[in-house]
Amino acid sequence: MSTTLITGGLVVTAAEEMQADVLIEGGRVVAVVDRNAAVARSLTADRVLDASGLYVIPGGVDAHTHMDFPFGGTFSSDDFASGTRAAAWGGTTTIVDFAVQTKGHALREGLDTWHAKADGQACVDYAFHMILSDVNEGTLREMDALVEEGVTSFKMFMAYPGVFYSDDGQILRAMQRTAANGGLAMMHAENGIAIDVLVEQALAAGRTDPRHHGEVRKVLLEAEATHRAIQLARVAGSPLYVVHVSAQEAVAELATARGMDLPVFGETCPQYLYLSTDDLAEPDFGGAKYVCSTPLRPAEHQAALWRALRTDDLQVVSTDHCPFCFTGQKDLGKGDFSKIPNGMPGVEHRMDLLHQAVVDGHITRRRWIDIACATPARMFGLHPKKGTLAPGADADVVLYDPHAEQTLSAQTHHMNVDYSAYEGRTLTGRVVTVLSRGETVIDRRTYTGRAGSGQYVPRGICQFLN
Ligand code: URP
Ligand code: ZN
Ligand code: ZN
Ligand code: ZN
Repeated sequence: MSTTLITGGLVVTAAEEMQADVLIEGGRVVAVVDRNAAVARSLTADRVLDASGLYVIPGGVDAHTHMDFPFGGTFSSDDFASGTRAAAWGGTTTIVDFAVQTKGHALREGLDTWHAKADGQACVDYAFHMILSDVNEGTLREMDALVEEGVTSFKMFMAYPGVFYSDDGQILRAMQRTAANGGLAMMHAENGIAIDVLVEQALAAGRTDPRHHGEVRKVLLEAEATHRAIQLARVAGSPLYVVHVSAQEAVAELATARGMDLPVFGETCPQYLYLSTDDLAEPDFGGAKYVCSTPLRPAEHQAALWRALRTDDLQVVSTDHCPFCFTGQKDLGKGDFSKIPNGMPGVEHRMDLLHQAVVDGHITRRRWIDIACATPARMFGLHPKKGTLAPGADADVVLYDPHAEQTLSAQTHHMNVDYSAYEGRTLTGRVVTVLSRGETVIDRRTYTGRAGSGQYVPRGICQFLN
């Protein structure tokens, strides 16, 4: 088995920081050795990577992506080949994508479809959640089988009536199932029935611009749905993970639940930490680039999200990567904001935007690795393979230059989308080299990966449950 030694770097995990060398053998980490220890001087390997001046961190785990996702009359513009390549460029070595149950069809069919989309395409590892669009007796039975085979989390939608929406009865039944089978209920928490009334009224009044997407999808309707999801989960005795939390008032609901020791978890995304309704108000339909749900909020909400990431009221930052091109996709909603495909690109920039948060003093270096690697791995049953650098872990490793400057732009990014939500933004910190199970995917800023080298990873159950 070939061996690799990464020398001279500062190893940063969620648990510790140390000047250490990392020894890799056959795709796994076999040792992390304190550089001051005598044994460090005797380590040898077939290949030595010099990480002097760099951080050596676990590959990122992005627990919320939508590759080749059918939505709003079109498909998200990254498939598993382009999307995982962009992920690798940004230091993410595992994605958890959402397989979709189509109404009237079995979970199994949706899962098979997603395996077919990813098989032979991905250049980093991937796993699946399942979106429930049709909770019925058959669906409930199938959930148990999926948990057994490694699809251990199920997203439901309180939004999008007629598309992915589940009513409270369906949600309760599915949560009773996850309570019994060890699965994790995931929730898109927005009151979609009320939102659709406000959409209709806005359009009737001629309020058709992208910024009205943010106005009708009210903070209170995110907070109300978050509260309701928590109560339904309590009634069912199920754990709950609320996705793409954007509003301070929704964070407060999570904080209250966690204060009661309930198994309730929350995720936010870089777009809610860095962008706002000011972006949605960009003139000449430019705001369409920022249409996603939950929507971007007034900038005041950002401080509450950062605070929640520090206090652990939010535990994970994922991207909700769901790109649609401005030309040819977002423009389906010209003259009617409700027809703009919902979603934003981001899989490439999560690690860097969160490193910028370290530079800016929002979070510590270890918390960066915690919310971006370690906790998503534990939350979704990927630990100890993923999310850490320890003997036995997969050798998914990023050599990261904390001092390099970069400017984000559609001209230079690797996502298959014709705009950047962060065009012109300068960040401090950049990925240098990326290993996926010991294989070099990015070598000193050159892509050396291969579609098909990424493997499907069946998951265990959430590791934050007793
Ligand atoms: O706008 C978004 N978030 N699009 C992706 C689908 C979802 O709700 O996560
Ligand atoms: Zn069918
Ligand atoms: Zn959602
Ligand atoms: Zn999503």
